[in-house]
Amino acid sequence: MLPKPVRKAGCALGGRASTYDQGVPPSDSRFVVLCLNGPNLDRLGRRDPAVYGSTTLPELEEKVKAWGDEMNIEVRCLQSSHEGALVEAIHGADDTDGVVINPGALTHTSAALRDAIESSSVPVVEVHLSNVRARDRWRRRSWVAPVATASIFGRGMSGYRSALAALVRRQRWPVITTRYGPHPDQVIDVRHATGPGAAILVHGGFWRDAWGRDSIEGWAVDLAEAGVSTATIEYRRLGSGGGGIATVTDVVASTSVASSLFSEKRLVIAGHSAGAHLAVSAAIDAGTAPLDGVVGVAGIYDLTAPGASQLGEGAVGDFLARGGASVTAAVPEGTPVVLVHGSADEVVPASQSAAYAADLAGSGVRVVHQEIAGLGHFEFLDERSPAWQATHTEVGRLLEG
Ligand code: DQA
Repeated sequence: MLPKPVRKAGCALGGRASTYDQGVPPSDSRFVVLCLNGPNLDRLGRRDPAVYGSTTLPELEEKVKAWGDEMNIEVRCLQSSHEGALVEAIHGADDTDGVVINPGALTHTSAALRDAIESSSVPVVEVHLSNVRARDRWRRRSWVAPVATASIFGRGMSGYRSALAALVRRQRWPVITTRYGPHPDQVIDVRHATGPGAAILVHGGFWRDAWGRDSIEGWAVDLAEAGVSTATIEYRRLGSGGGGIATVTDVVASTSVASSLFSEKRLVIAGHSAGAHLAVSAAIDAGTAPLDGVVGVAGIYDLTAPGASQLGEGAVGDFLARGGASVTAAVPEGTPVVLVHGSADEVVPASQSAAYAADLAGSGVRVVHQEIAGLGHFEFLDERSPAWQATHTEVGRLLEG
């Protein structure tokens, strides 16, 4: 068995799991994060509510500070519509543990902000309320993204929470980011640990671009702390040059790169939600180097099952239209599969795992199916939930063979 994940002192474990973005602070000492908002964000609440919501800036800042409290982070907030003030604030952040910045329109124009972030001695996470990739063409370009630790967009206010969690997780176990293609999303975050096993981790989000690999980073940190090396893969998604075949091709290609990085170790792949579909796709395609196991968590597998086209607000239809398909049971001999699902999952019904487990068993694949009573979809990504342990345990079991 893998050692249980170490819970660091000071983390907030109490209360109901409300979202999956719960970082765990790195030590007893309080983490300090500067939260910067750029031009026109002081007009939140009045400014285009259909795009930015009705929350005002003071309300947003209060919320971010409250999330910080839950994660044992002291959040200091500043808004300015002046480029120079933001540049100087980033310079002045050297004594903090990180910066979260929504640079507003300066995202798309400012070489000065880019340079300030590049020269910063602390990690800087870029955040946007709206999906900047799904709006005007000129908003697709970010000067900041290439030098930011992570870029989070299209998740409304909760993106700030994701950003805080990303800073904490990077601090707990740093990554080396490896590129496997020219597209900005063709990257793998690698965490090297000393144990004999490794795991490839595939995030979900219905293959859409607003959901990135930061959403599954908690699994990576947790496994790394238990001695398992990890490769958290990113891939082209719907809205950003992906969906369908391009997405599956990226996951297969990045799995092959990760396999070569960890060729000396036992290697399993684990995915959540649509990431489980992709994890299975990669295992089926693994060719001459079969993986040592697959863990599918709250996964979707049969895209043509009754009601499946309704899932993910039309994402399934978009994925199929771009050449995507359901996964088959053609998992290589010697690759066992574990499918875990919560019975109360309202995002992807538990029947998806039950039906795929039956298909796999019928095809002679070694499969374990666990339906956990009362659990929903996102609890598996929430460090405070009892469901959190499930992926860690199953990855550990498969690594032991
Ligand atoms: C924004 C997106 C930018 O394109 C825009 O100029 C903003 C806000 C966002 O939070 O969605 O001011 O950064």
